[in-house]
Amino acid sequence: MSSPVYDAILKRRSIREFTGQQVDLPLLREIITAGIWAPSGLNNQPWRFVIVRDPELRAQLAQQTHYSHIVLAAPALIAVYLDGSVVYDPCKDAQSAGACIQNMLLATESLGLGAVWLGQILKNKDAVRRILDLPEGLELMAVIAVGHPSRRDQQSRRKPLADFILKEI
Ligand SMILES: Cc1cc2nc3c(=O)[nH]c(=O)nc-3n(C[C@H](O)[C@H](O)[C@H](O)COP(=O)(O)O)c2cc1C
Repeated sequence: MSSPVYDAILKRRSIREFTGQQVDLPLLREIITAGIWAPSGLNNQPWRFVIVRDPELRAQLAQQTHYSHIVLAAPALIAVYLDGSVVYDPCKDAQSAGACIQNMLLATESLGLGAVWLGQILKNKDAVRRILDLPEGLELMAVIAVGHPSRRDQQSRRKPLADFILKEI
């Protein structure tokens, strides 16, 4: 099968190395626009975002993850939150956030940029909230590191399809 969307899904790779070139705000807003067009349960659109380009804040956030080198290398970060005032089901709201994040990753590639979904930083989500000066009631789902890729030869692997399909009835 081949279609632009299908090909984009298969070709997307996590990008962890970036050139020093800045990412303009309009591009970051386009990425987030793709995110908010993800499906959500009851269409509650529980996601909220913080765009971080400030070098000092990025340096502080880098200290909150084992993947500090990626955070420091990326000229832009997008922190993705769930808004506790609109969530209705922990599992479904987290699934909505995942759909939103994946849309953003695909949009990032389609705009000629690269990104990686950072989850390990969640272990310090309280510190991240303080650094970003956000109120309680927002739950960090991921930080997406965004930039202009310095290379595009990343490889990834998937197990064979048959390993995942339990039954074809
Ligand atoms: C929930 C989640 C958390 C992740 N956390 C990290 C992370 O903290 N650091 C990192 O370098 N990559 C992280 N990744 C990216 C995965 O390592 C990556 O998607 C996986 O190795 C497959 O590679 P691919 O995205 O190039 O297909 C995360 C991905 C997901 C979905």
